Amino acid sequence: MLRRPRRNRQSAAIRAMVEETTLSVNDFIYPMFVMEGNNLTSEVKSMPGIYRYSIDKILEEMSVVQDLGIRSIALFPLLAEDKKDKIASESYRKGNIYLEAIHQIKSKFPEIAIMSDVAMDPYSSDGHDGYVDEKGNILNDESLEILAKMTIAQAEAGADIVGPSDMMDGRVRVLREALDSKGFINVSIMAYSAKYASAFYGPFRDALDSAPKFGDKKTYQMNPANVREALIEAELDYSEGADFLMVKPALAYLDIIKSLNDNFDIPIAAYNVSGEYAMVKAAAQNGWLDGTKTMVECLTSIKRAGAKVILTYFAKEYASLTK
Ligand code: PBG
Repeated sequence: MLRRPRRNRQSAAIRAMVEETTLSVNDFIYPMFVMEGNNLTSEVKSMPGIYRYSIDKILEEMSVVQDLGIRSIALFPLLAEDKKDKIASESYRKGNIYLEAIHQIKSKFPEIAIMSDVAMDPYSSDGHDGYVDEKGNILNDESLEILAKMTIAQAEAGADIVGPSDMMDGRVRVLREALDSKGFINVSIMAYSAKYASAFYGPFRDALDSAPKFGDKKTYQMNPANVREALIEAELDYSEGADFLMVKPALAYLDIIKSLNDNFDIPIAAYNVSGEYAMVKAAAQNGWLDGTKTMVECLTSIKRAGAKVILTYFAKEYASLTK
């Protein structure tokens, strides 16, 4: 036998030497949830270990996060039902809970990169990412104006990266132009380019109470059966000025990550979403899987597929492991 592949696996030192994919805490963006109130921490039932925090508590938590070496977070708001309306007006009201949280985190932790979420769903009485008319249609171009206002408000509050997760057509260009016109030339856009209409978002919608009040998101989020559309979306977002292209979810879409990474030279991000986190946690709690090993294997596979950046609820757990 001339070729014995096992020779390169014979010791820990040799296995480490030939290891192709290495995870680093620098790759991670840690998604966090902020809510109204004081001194409040509430665990998301379907996401063990993940909490919604009032602003004072999220600031405490940020120290822990930063001490673990995590350098980037993505922030999402939970709003009371009476703050929601058809045009998501709360999303750009100065001093709202979300903008206030961005502002305070940025002031106390200036080195942390903060990514904001641009979509109407947490603020919309319809629970959709865009503006809904009387007939229940999600109107694209009307939504863009609202998304642009929201984006400017987030940039003014101190967001370093804005993350349009709404899947409206033409949004990246509109947001880029809006940001530039206000002088925010250095605020980056991480476009949720290939965002699929996925069942894996369930726990996130529980966390934010943001599930659509009627229908589903299939007229704007993509069909899980398609890859060619992902390339069209990525091409548009790239040409409209996106700084990062994101694929979401991650694990069931590793081929999409690879395809985008093969075709574009800007960094590819992947969102290891709430349902992917919940599956591993649930199995681990039942003693059916080794949670830690499964986490590392999942994150490694996302990076191996071509994601340079990984948004993951596992960021803290992974960081504590390697600390
Ligand atoms: C909404 C948004 C969603 C997620 C991030 N931004 C949910 C949705 O589209 O319904 C999901 C994240 C996760 O599941 O972890 N704009």
